[in-house]
Amino acid sequence: MKVIFVCLGNICRSPMAEFICKHLLKTKYQDLNVEVDSAGTSGWNDGDDVHIGTKSKLKEHKIDYSGFVSKKLTQKLFDENDIVFVMDNNNYETVINKFKNNNKVIKMTDYLKNQKYSEVPDPWYTNNFDETYKILSESIDNFLYSLTLKK
Ligand code: 4NP
Repeated sequence: MKVIFVCLGNICRSPMAEFICKHLLKTKYQDLNVEVDSAGTSGWNDGDDVHIGTKSKLKEHKIDYSGFVSKKLTQKLFDENDIVFVMDNNNYETVINKFKNNNKVIKMTDYLKNQKYSEVPDPWYTNNFDETYKILSESIDNFLYSLTLKK
């Protein structure tokens, strides 16, 4: 299975999700075979490294983020992934309108047990990387756990 996490800039939320997911696959869900990637809808930060706020959250949790280069979501990436996880309603609308397949586009917050959030807040604007980290960790853990039940 291949999954891709998508946000606006691909420097704050979706790289955080990508590296949390890779870390959980390595440490907690070793029996799952999932390839993980991330991209942005805008392409505004193409070629950039992970945002410093996301880096410091990942560092705090001893999660590796090496080798990252920000990129835009392309038709090829959309087609070759089984699930496209989006962070908010704006990402959802952009992706659905551009790629015309709403079957595999899922909002990350659908995997939260506590439905307090219907979007993953963008720390680019909130500056609250901790809140975003908690939402992503919980929802990605729930997603990976759901895959173990299907095996
Ligand atoms: P992200 O956050 O979508 O979580 O990566 C943003 C990053 C960059 C910008 C906006 C949001 N920007 O305007 O450049």
